[in-house]
Formats: sequence, structure tokens, C-alpha cells
Amino acid sequence: MASAAVLARTEPLYNRVRSVIPAIEWPVFAEDIDAILALKRERNAIILAHNYQTPEIFNCVADIVGDSLALAREAAETDADVIVLAGVHFMAETAKLLNPDKTVLIPDTRAGCSLAESITADDVRLLRARYPGVPVVTYVNTSAAVKAASDICCTSGNALQIVESLGAARVIMLPDEYLAQNIAKQTPVEIITWAGHCEVHERFSAADVRQLRLDHPGIVVLAHPECPPEVVAEADYAGSTAGLASYVGRHKPARVVLLTECSMSDNVALRNPDVSFIRPCNLCPHMKRITLRNIRSALERMEHAVTIDPAIAPAARRAVERMLAA
Ligand code: 13P
Ligand code: SF4
Repeated sequence: MASAAVLARTEPLYNRVRSVIPAIEWPVFAEDIDAILALKRERNAIILAHNYQTPEIFNCVADIVGDSLALAREAAETDADVIVLAGVHFMAETAKLLNPDKTVLIPDTRAGCSLAESITADDVRLLRARYPGVPVVTYVNTSAAVKAASDICCTSGNALQIVESLGAARVIMLPDEYLAQNIAKQTPVEIITWAGHCEVHERFSAADVRQLRLDHPGIVVLAHPECPPEVVAEADYAGSTAGLASYVGRHKPARVVLLTECSMSDNVALRNPDVSFIRPCNLCPHMKRITLRNIRSALERMEHAVTIDPAIAPAARRAVERMLAA
């Protein structure tokens, strides 16, 4: 349990999150937060946290927060010696690809992703054989090996721009079938899809949206484009996690629902206290593997450093760097 000195040092941080973290839970968090802040200074480390991280990570220890695109961009810019990725494994691999000489730590190596699991590099090679000459656009939610077998990466924040940047009449877009279908509606480019799905977003249905509108008249419905197309069609806006957060900040709807991972609403609500959030809670079990306790332990022991097979790293890096340059 935290000492009086630790509680005093961390009080300004508690003030940031007190509306979503009960006072009784804070002393346990405060102890780890205080230790993590000291370890970051000692190791010249930064913590990159995805928008789905819990409020005590997102608001109290992270140096950079954002969507996958922002985390990749920031990873490419940092001069820290150590990067701790508070997110899932593919995000840590992307940070490592962009920083081959730095130490990148993932606090729990089991923090995976159903999309990354849905496809292998051999699958990509089979697709290339079936569609010769058709460029492969790969969502960053994939392994480094899949990226290495691709032409260029994209995120939900830049997918349309990347697809159109290739100047091709047809592209293969993998592995997220729904993201690809949602992008296909916005472009004349023909898109060949793969049957991968996000286990969190595939659970939302168009009937859920209609029920939300009946239960909460006037509610603004924002959806992540990993949701099925019929859900996106019923939403008021679809965008990356950063796009959803910025929509709320710009439009300040009286009442809103974010059809995405659950913790995101806490983090956006803290920055928009005047907006009321309805929260259907779909948790990403992979994102939730990251805790203050294992961030602290990763930094204490310098454990779970991400490595990438040197045989695939240059090609995977090229696909990510092409995306960042597009
Ligand atoms: P964003 O790039 O929009 O943050 O999405 C990442 C992700 O994993 C969504 O499920
Ligand atoms: Fe993967 Fe979905 Fe979790 Fe994002 S929310 S990390 S896409 S399983």
C-alpha cells in the first residue's frame, strides 16, 4: 500500500482520473505509478499507450497516447533509449521495426490481436499467386512476417489514402474484411478482402445501433471501421480511435456512444466532462493484459524485449516506412 509521501506525490495525477477511478482503488495504483515514473527517468524510457489502455495507464504514466498511426509516428521520432508499448504485440513490433537499435518492451507477450492471428505470410504469398501484380495493402494489426510479405501498411486512420495512393485499379487489402469493405464503399478502387475480424468490433450489430437510438433519442453514434459495414452504415461517423476522440472534442455531442473498445470511453470522457457517454462494454482481452504492475516489472527487469527475425525485418520495415511516407 502506498506511503503518505507516495500519495502526496501522486495526488495531482489522481485529480486527473478521480471521476473514473474510485478513491479506494487509488493507493494500489499510486504505488506502481510512483515507481514507474522513477524507472522511466532512470532508464531514459518512454511509455507509448494506445487509446484502449485503462485510465490509470493512459492518464498517469503514458508519455504519448494515440491510435496505431500516432504511436507508429511517435515511435519513429523518439530519442529515448527504451520504449514501453502499453498496447498489443503488433504495436510493439512496429515500434521495434522503426527503432532497430532501441529496446522495445511489451509488458505481457500474450497481448495479441485476433486480426494479427487471422493470417500468415504464406497466406499472403498464396493471395499474390492468385492475383498476380495486384498490390497488397496490409493493416498494421498483423505480424512483422505478414508485413514483410506486403507492399505497404495502413491503419484505420489512413486506409483510404493508402489504397488510393497506389494508383492501382485493384488492391488486396488484408486481413480485416470489414475495414476493407468499409473502405471499398468510399473508393472506385476494387478491393479484394480476407476474412479476418476483430473479436471486439465484430460483436456490434445494426440492431444494437437501432436499439441505442430508441433508448436514447438524439444520441450520436460513432463507430470504429473494424465494425461490420451495416453497423458503420447506421452510425453518424466512423473513424480510427483518434478520429472518434477528435469528433467528440470538436462536436461536443450532448450524448454519445463509441462503438469500440470499452476503456476508450473513460479516456475520452475525462477530456470531455460536459459530454454524456453511453457505454456498451466490449473489452479487448489482449489490451487488458497490460497493467501498471507489469509495466513496472518490465521496466524493473528490462524484460520482454521485442525482437524481429533479421530475415524479415528489412521488408517489414519498408512496408511500414512506405505508409509513413505516403
Ligand atoms: P486504431 O488504429 O484506430 O487505434 O485501432 C487499433 C485497434 O486495434 C482497433 O481495434
Ligand atoms: Fe485486435 Fe480488436 Fe483488440 Fe484491436 S480491439 S487489438 S483489433 S482484437
